[in-house]
Amino acid sequence: MPPSHKLQCHFVLLVLAALRGDSRYLELQDAADYDPFLLFSASPKRDLAGEQQYRRALRCLDMLSLPGQFTFTAARPQLHCAAFFIGEAEELLSIRFDLVSIDCTRGDFLKVFDGWILKGEKFPSSQDHPVPTTDRYTDFCESGFSPRSIRSSQNVAMILFRVHEPGNGFTVTIKTDPNLFPCNVISQTPNGRFTLVIPRQHRNCSFSIIYPVSIKISDLTLGHVHGLQLKKPSAGCGGTGDFVELLGGAGLDPSKMMPLADLCYPFHGPAQMKIGCDNSVVRMVSSGKHINRVTFEYHQLAPYELGNPTGNSIPESCSSGL
Ligand SMILES: *[C@@H]1O[C@H](CO)[C@@H](O)[C@H](O)[C@H]1NC(C)=O
Repeated sequence: MPPSHKLQCHFVLLVLAALRGDSRYLELQDAADYDPFLLFSASPKRDLAGEQQYRRALRCLDMLSLPGQFTFTAARPQLHCAAFFIGEAEELLSIRFDLVSIDCTRGDFLKVFDGWILKGEKFPSSQDHPVPTTDRYTDFCESGFSPRSIRSSQNVAMILFRVHEPGNGFTVTIKTDPNLFPCNVISQTPNGRFTLVIPRQHRNCSFSIIYPVSIKISDLTLGHVHGLQLKKPSAGCGGTGDFVELLGGAGLDPSKMMPLADLCYPFHGPAQMKIGCDNSVVRMVSSGKHINRVTFEYHQLAPYELGNPTGNSIPESCSSGL
């Protein structure tokens, strides 16, 4: 199975886990007969020659990692639907609705969210996102969608929708654009390598891996002052300046995750940490005074590394170790 399909399967399983006992958020009936392995087995190849656009039907609960045109048609009243989109780390998504046929007066809705939101947890967190939370929603029923595309601020976005009348729905086209300085990212794969750079900007960036992983940081640069490395701060990373933190947790929102390690002085050479959580995050806090850069590699932890004798299930607790 190609890696991005593995992510889709893994993510869908996480969504299903999140749905247990919470039928308000997404449509449980749809989720119940949902077979991620079947659904994604017929995916196309990204690098097929030619410019032919990928087209397929969108499901009430769906996950897409390829550009294309997607059509949702309600089979019956479908009231709690969500489609999660993910691009490569260095991509932004642009979302354009070609056709919308819903009845706002009956309580239907169709909203684009700049990021992912699941059970009230957002990625990027409101702390790390450049725009206020309310502005991250574009609501068709409030203002319509202007002809231009809605552009995401990172490699993930989603649409939330509710359609009462069978036969109603919409068609959406997803495209990708390059992003020179990716800030907030969800990794498509459980293994990889990434360099996060914040070039003299007062902002914070989170790189999220929704798997239990081992993370190896090989390089950390936190600014230079006249060619000299900054001095080690005397009292931890708290309060001031620029630093990198490793976070672990079960939800999507980095601001609600457990801080596992802080790194606040530059170094070269590997520092490794195992994070046995559903979600692992490398977060960089940047004052804007320096060019900050962190390079890391990550590998999915094998079940035996999680200290979980039953092997298959997602661990309940979120243990970590250096
Ligand atoms: C970045 O995060 C730090 C600590 O988490 C916070 O104090 C600061 O306000 C944030 N900066 C921005 C630009 O959001």
